[in-house]
Amino acid sequence: MRGRSSNLCSLLLFSVFSLLFGAALVSGFRICSFNVNRFNSAKAAKPIVLHTLTKVVSKCDICLLQDVVDSDGKAVKPLLTLLNRWKSTRYDKLPYASVSSKVLGKSADNMQQYVFIYRRDIVNVTGQHQYEGNAFVRPPFVVQFYSNKTDIKEFILVPLHSEPEQAVQEIDSLYDVFEKVSEMWNNTNVMFLGDFHAGCAYVTRHDKKSIRLYTNSNFSWLIGDGVDTTVTDLTDCAYDRIVVHGQDFLKAIRPFSGKVFNFGKEFKLRRTKVLDVSDHYPIEVRLKGSAFLHLAPPLLILLGVSAIIQFFLPAL
Ligand SMILES: *[C@@H]1O[C@H](CO)[C@@H](O)[C@H](O)[C@H]1NC(C)=O
Ligand SMILES: *[C@@H]1O[C@H](CO)[C@@H](O)[C@H](O)[C@H]1NC(C)=O
Ligand SMILES: *[C@@H]1O[C@H](CO)[C@@H](O)[C@H](O)[C@H]1NC(C)=O
Ligand SMILES: *[C@@H]1O[C@H](CO)[C@@H](O)[C@H](O)[C@H]1NC(C)=O
Repeated sequence: MRGRSSNLCSLLLFSVFSLLFGAALVSGFRICSFNVNRFNSAKAAKPIVLHTLTKVVSKCDICLLQDVVDSDGKAVKPLLTLLNRWKSTRYDKLPYASVSSKVLGKSADNMQQYVFIYRRDIVNVTGQHQYEGNAFVRPPFVVQFYSNKTDIKEFILVPLHSEPEQAVQEIDSLYDVFEKVSEMWNNTNVMFLGDFHAGCAYVTRHDKKSIRLYTNSNFSWLIGDGVDTTVTDLTDCAYDRIVVHGQDFLKAIRPFSGKVFNFGKEFKLRRTKVLDVSDHYPIEVRLKGSAFLHLAPPLLILLGVSAIIQFFLPAL
């Protein structure tokens, strides 16, 4: 009898331990990119859309939104308000902040913004730069971040929502953006992210040799060509991508953490509800950091308590 209950106890202990350890391993500093397909005030006024978007963004420490149409501020503000109401803690009532580009584009009926939403309590913005010039329809709005929760500490994010028909040329021009901002901030820890349209008919295998982010081996593509970042079954294309420059940045990223986040599956949503939010899925990557160290003390306390219970249980 005694042997049995202590076996059960060990099993329980083991499950709790692996659960906690697992949770600690899957956490980490998350950077996401999401093409939200014309996110405007009308879309933000739909409760299910706003709620779903809030849940998606709340999983990220920095989230880049693209295709935001919010010149009047009535789309991002309700999102931030809901996020902050949802995730506020006793210590920090407004954990999320945002930084937005101005409206960008070449035709009046398709002007868009890049918006970064980030955890103010663990990330700081240390630089902003709107890239100029004619190489892009929506030139990158480049932001430098600092977070001491990451191994890399200070890094630069370069967003791109490319114009489909000139995707090859725009992705290639990201190299020029890299040269400009890495020199400007003396920082070569640069990540490129967004809907590059880097797949299917817009960027073929043949096109890669005219894209410096492919030909220069210092750049690593963290979302592979075989990934489908679109929602419908009609398309199977790796449009959305994350690319990093340099060994230092690559080493600071959890291996194989670059992936699509299928929120429809995760939140058990019908396809039509997913498409109400976007025709793209978000993509993400996780940086190495001190997350595990923060979880370690509670873990040890729990294990201690379990050990004590296990010791006294047979006596009862
Ligand atoms: C952000 O910057 C401020 C001032 O520069 C600093 O006091 C604060 O600790 C920084 N926060 C983080 C998360 O690095
Ligand atoms: C990290 O950031 C937190 C919050 O801003 C700050 O309190 C802490 O001192 C920082 N730690 C280091 C090592 O810079
Ligand atoms: C640029 O950064 C490197 C290390 O990252 C440092 O050694 C160098 O002094 C910096 N240069 C300038 C001009 O700040
Ligand atoms: C790759 O990066 C290293 C170190 O920064 C640099 O010396 C080298 O020239 C780069 N290679 C190319 C092809 O740009």
